[in-house]
Amino acid sequence: MNAAAPRSAVTRQGRPRHFLMCRPTHYDVSYSINPWMEPAKPTDTSLAVAQWERLHDLFLELGHTIELIEPIPGLPDMVYAANGATVVDGKVFGARFRHQERAAEGPAYLDWFRARGYTELHEPQYVNEGEGDFLVTDSHVLAGWGFRSTLEGHAEAQEFFGRPVVGLELVDPRFYHLDTALAVLDGDEIMYNPAAFSAGSLAVLRSLYPDALLAEPADAAVFGLNAISDGRHVVLPEAATGLAEQLRERGFEPIGVDLTELLKAGGSVKCCTLELRPRG
Ligand code: ARG
Repeated sequence: MNAAAPRSAVTRQGRPRHFLMCRPTHYDVSYSINPWMEPAKPTDTSLAVAQWERLHDLFLELGHTIELIEPIPGLPDMVYAANGATVVDGKVFGARFRHQERAAEGPAYLDWFRARGYTELHEPQYVNEGEGDFLVTDSHVLAGWGFRSTLEGHAEAQEFFGRPVVGLELVDPRFYHLDTALAVLDGDEIMYNPAAFSAGSLAVLRSLYPDALLAEPADAAVFGLNAISDGRHVVLPEAATGLAEQLRERGFEPIGVDLTELLKAGGSVKCCTLELRPRG
């Protein structure tokens, strides 16, 4: 076997997923807690809803199961369901937001899980913004810090899940959550934007994931890393064309979507999607 055989020859196996989403009924940019958010710029809520609906329908077409949480008036960022919790092995680690503007989302998401019959729930003591900063690979929970989630929050998550949490420092305010700079493609395969990490954290990523796909700055800048992979299909912002090509070379099927209206608050595909991982 030629070790240099193109990876596109690999047949990728997708796995149906279980997602929680929140319709952007009350979406708006009325405050600014990241560099993308410019309250003076007009937003179009009905366009945000239409773009979100297409993402929702695409996930259904790909065979995924979607649950919905009722959007709450006055919580315009609630559409970013990834921030609502982290769910591993059927265990729910609640979120605690850094900014007051989003504080009420943490308990709202936990209530949803309680009402759905989840019994292993954790109300967090320290700031963590759910799957915005916790990304689960087969071997680790990769965890961002520097802008939102805290190291204390990482330790709290490690204790709750009993899985090794690897802290990674984010250094570019445009990529303020880990899921804006890194995505899990399958198992222990990841893609990331090297420029978003501190030198030490980059060295950690290089040693743990030597074969990772490295995104170009242009693709990172349009939130290409804010993607959802089922192991085969990778749903990502359509503007990330270079990244789509790199994914194709590795045997994935990239599917571009237009979520530009939701990018005005600093979110895209992954931000809108919380994965509900069942008991293993
Ligand atoms: N406006 C939101 C915030 O700044 C966007 C959250 C995006 N979500 C994410 N998982 N990165 O908190």
